[in-house]
Amino acid sequence: MFAIAAFPDQQVPRKVALAPPVSPAAGQLLCRTRHLGICGTDREILLSRRPALPPGEEFLVLGHECLGEVVEVGPDMNGRFAAGDLVVPVVRRALPHSVRRPDMLAPGEYTERGIFFEHGFSAPYWLDRAEYLVAVPASIADVAVLAEPLAVVEKGVHEAELLQSARLGETAWPAAAPRVLVTGLGPIAFAAVLATGARGWPTTVLGRDRPDTFRAELAARLGATYRDLRTLPAEPADAETDGFDLILECTGSDDVLVQTSPFLASCGLMVWLGSSRVPQARSHNLALVMRNAVIRNHLHLGTVNAALRDFQAALDDLRFWCRRSAADVAAIITERLPLDEALWHYTHRRPQGIKCVVDQF
Ligand code: BGC
Repeated sequence: MFAIAAFPDQQVPRKVALAPPVSPAAGQLLCRTRHLGICGTDREILLSRRPALPPGEEFLVLGHECLGEVVEVGPDMNGRFAAGDLVVPVVRRALPHSVRRPDMLAPGEYTERGIFFEHGFSAPYWLDRAEYLVAVPASIADVAVLAEPLAVVEKGVHEAELLQSARLGETAWPAAAPRVLVTGLGPIAFAAVLATGARGWPTTVLGRDRPDTFRAELAARLGATYRDLRTLPAEPADAETDGFDLILECTGSDDVLVQTSPFLASCGLMVWLGSSRVPQARSHNLALVMRNAVIRNHLHLGTVNAALRDFQAALDDLRFWCRRSAADVAAIITERLPLDEALWHYTHRRPQGIKCVVDQF
């Protein structure tokens, strides 16, 4: 069987031959990859030329956004899973003796399948332990590969909700829906639109595309208002009336962060959902970001990865959207390709592409 791997000192992924996994041991399941998402993290691992290899290995098998199907169940599963069940694996696994929730651990305290020190899911078959698999209803099979990136956004939104009710009381967002700004038109931005739309929050998407293009129109079909970044003034006339209560920063761009932060209203919160793996020193008016944050009680919150509850919330969002407009959610997956054709997408992006999925191995 073949998988897609990153090698040290190489920017281009390669197909590697792997021995098929053995039968599952107690507590394990053998799964087949039905759908595999390609994401910015895969591209950045390749760009860095320094994949975090599993001990003793010469390459890292890529792939962390996955919809799998259970093929064989190991002993002692007590009916928890059966062959044919659909599952989404969680990415991060805590090293022994960690005390925090895995998604809150410090670098060095965990592995991540397909990212840090453990092979991922781009192979047709893989083994995993039951505690790392989240059951997926068959009704959302077509789009469940989006659950992992959506769980990452769900974590950010959930933390924002917790923090706001801790400092403003339950009457803050539960009572009055926050005005949301989502920056970007990539897969994380679309996941953010799904998460805030499922909550019924008014959402504006800010992007560089013209409003009459596919991604901008899809954001609108999913209920968001699209705004061209180039039409954004340097500052709002009044951040309280023209601004936002929650900014979901989905571009990972420091430019966009600095440009949008004056639009946070009082007690507003910006969640940073992405960043560059190779941060470059730049010149920005950070003093203005600080001044606004102090005067207006802003919170800036970095988040990574997701807890189990966030995967469940992501699946709930997908169920909601599949009932409401299944075709528009499915349109976020702009390409479905066999493994050989998908290789190109690890180093290139098509204009107007959002999520590329490998569906034949
Ligand atoms: C994944 C997260 C992971 C993060 C950092 C993201 O692409 O979705 O699960 O924690 O990369 O490695």
